[in-house]
Amino acid sequence: MIIITTVREMQDWANETRLQGKRIGCVPTMGFLHKGHGSLISKAAAECTEVVVTIFVNPTQFGPNEDFERYPRNFERDVELAETCGATVIFHPTVSEMYPNHFSTTIHISGVTDKFEGVFRPNHFNGVATVVAKLLLATKPNIAYFGQKDYQQTLVIKRLVSDVNIDVEVSIQPTFREHDNLAMSSRNVYLSPEEREMALVLSQALQTLQRVISAGEKNRTILNNTLQQTIQQIPSAIIDYANVALQETLHEPDVFNAGDSVVALLAVRIGKTRLIDNMLFTMV
Ligand code: PAJ
Repeated sequence: MIIITTVREMQDWANETRLQGKRIGCVPTMGFLHKGHGSLISKAAAECTEVVVTIFVNPTQFGPNEDFERYPRNFERDVELAETCGATVIFHPTVSEMYPNHFSTTIHISGVTDKFEGVFRPNHFNGVATVVAKLLLATKPNIAYFGQKDYQQTLVIKRLVSDVNIDVEVSIQPTFREHDNLAMSSRNVYLSPEEREMALVLSQALQTLQRVISAGEKNRTILNNTLQQTIQQIPSAIIDYANVALQETLHEPDVFNAGDSVVALLAVRIGKTRLIDNMLFTMV
């Protein structure tokens, strides 16, 4: 396992590796790796000769009252898990390496960032787009892997790569879940045992919605109410949003059409922990 901490060394390694005709896969992460990250790394290892896992808790994507300082970190365990899943390189820069003095660039993507996470976490997607551009330009992968877990983030990254011509294929992988269907997340460690139980309401709401959609419901208000009423069965769960929208644009027509590809997006606070989840559907 090679551990690289500077952008210059990372780019030198990537240039050399590409000259050798090898295929580079990259899995950007903020560390505290779990099996969800592991599934992305394994997929990259199956498809690429070299797999770079980036581990960088990016301060610019956290709001002033968010959890940047207390975001869980365990570098040694991350290296072990990444290696077990097939990573060959870890890129682990410091904050000052990524954002040196006089750093002045922000990438803002409009449209897909206007709603949902974009409303509740202003500037979040600016931070994500800017750091992902930097990570891709440092690691120079042929393929970059992201999780559907952060659905709106995948739209932002696809838009970024297309709009500024980053020469990389973007691969989106399914959400990896615990046995009881809770979507894996580094933030799940914040949950007390009671909150961990309550957190199941997110996947339950999505499953309830699945049944309602399968029965032919296409009215957006009824679909949103289905999500919201299920979540409200846990009185202490606070809904930031629970909405159904078109997958590609996140537009919200009053009534969907048969054949429409839609996504249900949830952000719910349980105690101090904010959880997100989503599910994709085709309207019948
Ligand atoms: P992080 O939350 O560490 O997630 C890294 C990658 O793992 C993301 O693409 C995320 O969608 C994916 N992921 C997280 N949980 C998953 C799960 N249960 N199943 C499958 N994939 C999962 O997302 C970020 O970091 C950052 O915003 C980043 C893109 C690294 C930019 O800083």
